[in-house]
Amino acid sequence: MPHPARHVFVCSQQRPPGHPRGSCSAQGSGPVLQAFWGELQKRQAHERVAITYSGCLGPCDGGVNVLVYPEAVLYQRVTPDDVTEIFDQHLDKGEVVARLQAPAAVW
Ligand code: FES
Repeated sequence: MPHPARHVFVCSQQRPPGHPRGSCSAQGSGPVLQAFWGELQKRQAHERVAITYSGCLGPCDGGVNVLVYPEAVLYQRVTPDDVTEIFDQHLDKGEVVARLQAPAAVW
């Protein structure tokens, strides 16, 4: 199996309703994950990009959080509408999507 050049982790943490930290799941991680998988399929990018759901990445109030390696870039408040741009710009060209990047104080 080839090593993918980039690995995307979509926080899919769930917490009970009313939990003080909230969760990326409650903020819409499911549709974001589905959008990433859909784009992966559409582009037939399985050998160069891996998409994985993850547990809590830390800064829950900025969810949906998406972490991209090897650059270790954290994107915050990601919606399904952002996924094509992340693919086009970062996963295909290696250019960070600055408008979605978490500030240095967060990550
Ligand atoms: S629940 Fe997603 S970062 Fe904590």
